[in-house]
Amino acid sequence: MRVLTFIGTTAVVLLAVTIGCGGGSEFIGAAAEGEKLVEKYGCRDCHVIRGEGADKAPTLDTVIVEIGEVRARKQIKDPKANNPNSVMPDFGLSEKEQDQILAYLREIQE
Ligand code: HEC
Repeated sequence: MRVLTFIGTTAVVLLAVTIGCGGGSEFIGAAAEGEKLVEKYGCRDCHVIRGEGADKAPTLDTVIVEIGEVRARKQIKDPKANNPNSVMPDFGLSEKEQDQILAYLREIQE
């Protein structure tokens, strides 16, 4: 009986941990997808995100607070829209990808 209780408890704990971690990300839904896109497109090559990354461009940890979501979306959709001389690459992000990246950025604002 004791062994069964132990196995049962372990299973519940493992299940809770699995659900809680959402498959490795602390975020769920669009924000979790946005986190993956930020990795995929290498935004940290230039930006600090959650304290990590290169310091070649403004930190994204406060970007929504600083410039607002409309301007941030404009930038990731077409970097040259805000600044014609921008060195930020145009990643050709779909509308959905823009939504996901913005959802992630909203979550991480300090
Ligand atoms: C090659 C370097 C580089 C990469 C890679 C890069 N950016 Fe940028 N980004 C910049 C620079 C430089 C700026 C400053 C404004 C400008 O010159 O366009 C900027 C500005 C921004 C801004 C507006 C910040 C502000 O305060 O005005 C956002 C939002 C942004 N980038 C998001 C992203 C995201 C999301 C990615 C990844 C998908 C990314 N950037 C990848 C260089 C980069």
